Amino acid sequence: MSILITGGAGFIGSHTCVEMLTAGYDVIVADNLYNSSIEALRRVEEITNKKVKLYEVDVCDKYALRTIFTENSIEAVIHFAGYKAVGESVEKPMMYYNNNLISTLSLIDVMNEFNVKNLVFSSSATVYAGDNSVPLTEDMKLGAINPYGKTKLFIEEILRDLCAANPDWCVALLRYFNPIGAHKSGLIGESPKGIPNNLMPYISQVAVGKLKRLNVFGDDYETRDGTGSRDYIHVVDLAKGHVKAMAWALKNTGCDAFNLGTGTGTTVLELRKAFMDATGMDVPYVIAPRRAGDLAEVYALPDKAEKVLNWKAELNIQDMCEDTWRWQKNNPSGYECSSKSK
Ligand code: WQD
Repeated sequence: MSILITGGAGFIGSHTCVEMLTAGYDVIVADNLYNSSIEALRRVEEITNKKVKLYEVDVCDKYALRTIFTENSIEAVIHFAGYKAVGESVEKPMMYYNNNLISTLSLIDVMNEFNVKNLVFSSSATVYAGDNSVPLTEDMKLGAINPYGKTKLFIEEILRDLCAANPDWCVALLRYFNPIGAHKSGLIGESPKGIPNNLMPYISQVAVGKLKRLNVFGDDYETRDGTGSRDYIHVVDLAKGHVKAMAWALKNTGCDAFNLGTGTGTTVLELRKAFMDATGMDVPYVIAPRRAGDLAEVYALPDKAEKVLNWKAELNIQDMCEDTWRWQKNNPSGYECSSKSK
């Protein structure tokens, strides 16, 4: 029996492939490589010494999905595939609604056709309404403010309704906080296309000399040092959370949401300092205006995942910085210039 991982060539997807293979599952990946690289999967095979079967397909394409389910004995699915840039989603909402919603609806339909009813879904802390207090708990108010976050919220609602009407389904909704870091081998990591939107890849590209300086988006928030505070979680801890969620989904029914965070907030300037301390590299910065839509503080209460999934983040900010730097210095342009890339 195999696990289908959609978007498995991406940042979180590739790290999850490593952990699922290490846990003894066979892995099939469906990925259109729009925002990922086949090189990442080659390196997943190098790290695990196990094979990954890739179908280079668009998950919106039901015919392609049917081929995958026909050719393989699939037990369950982890669904990462989707566009994920907040800013881009504001400029191109219909691109996000079409892709993220249709791919999920197509996947659910084909899973039903093949009687596959266990799903782990890549959700996000962005589904929480902005006026919640911190730490965030899974029962708090939902309410996304950008089209990307709304696709995650809409998909959560679709999956809740699916499970309510079909008690033989089981869905784990994993709400990620801020995934950063890289596998300790330095072989796989975050490889954003163009200028990074997110903080850690921006910091690491300044450190490696690809970008001049960090723009700190606002220093007048109600936080320890005035800069935004987030719950950064090591991508390997996050990937291990998917292994635990899959085990839960395979032996339960119903739909349930879980925060995957550390429960600790770190500010922009604190992360910058931790990165410099961990790597010895300089990260010059300037204070810039606040970014629209940003909140002062976002961090999880991760107790439910610990209690129900028996999962808890183990790696700390220093690990995240050291592992990010090992990946970035060995791959200054990510997978773009790897000699064996596609
Ligand atoms: C973190 C902090 C910025 C860049 C986003 C998505 C969320 C999830 C994770 C997918 C904030 C500050 C950032 C920079 C900065 N993705 N910052 N200069 O916005 O918390 O979450 O990524 O699920 O859905 O919203 O992450 O890394 O963009 O920002 O000062 O160049 O760093 O203001 O305080 P965010 P981020």
